[in-house]
Amino acid sequence: MKIAILGGTGNIGKGFALRWGQKHEIIIGSRDIDKAEAVAAEYNEVLETHGYKPVITGTDNRTAAEKAEIIVVAIRYNQLAPVMELIYPVISDKVVISVVVPMEKNSCYISPGSNYPRTPIESEEFNTEYFCFSIPEAGSAAQEIFTMIPESTELVAAFHTVPAKKLADLDMELDYDIGVCGNSMHSKELVFGLVRDISNMRPLDIGPLETAGMVESLTPLLINVAARNKMRDVSLKFI
Ligand SMILES: NC(=O)c1ccc[n+]([C@@H]2O[C@H](COP(=O)([O-])OP(=O)(O)OC[C@H]3O[C@@H](n4cnc5c(N)ncnc54)[C@H](OP(=O)(O)O)[C@@H]3O)[C@@H](O)[C@H]2O)c1
Repeated sequence: MKIAILGGTGNIGKGFALRWGQKHEIIIGSRDIDKAEAVAAEYNEVLETHGYKPVITGTDNRTAAEKAEIIVVAIRYNQLAPVMELIYPVISDKVVISVVVPMEKNSCYISPGSNYPRTPIESEEFNTEYFCFSIPEAGSAAQEIFTMIPESTELVAAFHTVPAKKLADLDMELDYDIGVCGNSMHSKELVFGLVRDISNMRPLDIGPLETAGMVESLTPLLINVAARNKMRDVSLKFI
């Protein structure tokens, strides 16, 4: 399959390119073609070192989306809108995968009517730094992206709980469960296959897109667990 990774020059994009590049044709999308080409060459070197063919190319985000059958949106939540606008004309009848997690530091939602006092940021007693799911008006980043794509485009939300560093380390087996949310079984099955392409990963059907917020909100939880308990790059497994 031809898979475009928009923001593929970034942290999580690298891991997807290296893992799926073992089986699929990968097109790295970027705002800057030169950067995309240089990064694609760097990823190809890693593939070749591990005995795989160099199948990764780089181009601008729109051309990447145009050339691919599956488009992975690997861009930060607050940078999404212009990229989605740019690719809108070229993604009809395709499958889009959102891995986007809207999160912020030290700003968990407290209802304006609540009397609960916000934890002071400065404290000598304990570390007050934490990450929170920053709930978009639509309920999740995936539901927001749904409003930015043509009717014929299928959207699946997945891979939110995969740590970028471990994904990009080809020597690591990733014994993780991946929650998959979406409204079409056809595109979900396709994503289940992409999950299984990564050694030891198991796809789990979570529900329609309306359930994406629950999965997206797990990422800040995992980051907090790692940061506060001397753990690194924590992920999830349901047992
Ligand atoms: N990092 C993780 O472990 C992880 C895990 C699960 C999910 N995610 C999600 O994956 C997404 C990407 O995370 P990341 O850590 O990979 O992000 P990142 O490395 O900070 O950024 C990804 C790419 O976004 C592009 N970008 C930067 N500023 C932009 C802008 N203003 N407009 C458009 N594109 C811009 C850059 O590519 P160019 O400069 O080449 O355009 C960059 O390489 C996020 O939504 C995150 O929540 C991340």
